Amino acid sequence: MSQVLQLESVDAYYGASHVLHGVSLSVDVGEAVVLIGRNGAGKSTTMRAIMGLTGLGAGEMSWRGRSIKGMPTHRIARLGIGLVPDTRRMFAALSVGENLELGVKAPAEGHTGRVWDVPRVLELFPALQSLLKRRSGALSGGQQQMLAIARTLVGNPSLLLLDEPMEGLAPVIVEELGERLSALRQEGVSMLLSEQNLTLTRRLADRAYVLETGYVRHEGTLKELEANPQAWARYVAF
Ligand SMILES: Nc1ncnc2c1ncn2[C@@H]1O[C@H](COP(=O)(O)OP(=O)(O)O)[C@@H](O)[C@H]1O
Ligand SMILES: [Mg+2]
Repeated sequence: MSQVLQLESVDAYYGASHVLHGVSLSVDVGEAVVLIGRNGAGKSTTMRAIMGLTGLGAGEMSWRGRSIKGMPTHRIARLGIGLVPDTRRMFAALSVGENLELGVKAPAEGHTGRVWDVPRVLELFPALQSLLKRRSGALSGGQQQMLAIARTLVGNPSLLLLDEPMEGLAPVIVEELGERLSALRQEGVSMLLSEQNLTLTRRLADRAYVLETGYVRHEGTLKELEANPQAWARYVAF
């Protein structure tokens, strides 16, 4: 398999505060990879670093073999990386339909697979169909998360970064979102997601990186992690 994203020994900072320490990771074409770690482990910072949203020190970061280190965020996005931040940022005063329309972008060079447009994301998230005219700020947490993902998808990213997509959602919604993300996975969209526990990502991810205080402590398949829960209990909630 060929790599889309590669981080090699990346250091990241917020001002003078050194938060990521030599983080190395990769995502292959069509792969779903999860960053696991407790609160404060560095999951969001890793995603922000990929998008050019934090200060970087040593290390290298590349997209399809080309360095993206130091690139402005809008250019990184244009190369085909789409972030769904943990804040689910959207335009609260606009309708669901308007938010979706604002997300529409043509695929970047090298994009494979079918193009995502509004009708197609509504097939993936049918719950949004009847909400198109609803003000986005009036949606439930689960509906907002689906809108945030749908809006990023119509931008046709080749790699979707999902920062704790299940956080704060009711179990029944988690179940539904899990199914939707599995369907997305079947479509061959590459994903890097973050979670605090393994349960939610079991069905979704191929490989995991375990983060603690900005260090990668372990990498491997989810099966390997699950086979030895005692060893990882310090870093991961099972
Ligand atoms: N804007 C910020 N300024 C300074 N420090 C931050 C900022 N955001 C996060 N941090 C710190 O960086 C570390 C990693 O945080 P984060 O990446 O948000 O972890 P996670 O997403 O795994 O919960 C934590 O120690 C956190 O306090
Ligand atoms: Mg976070």
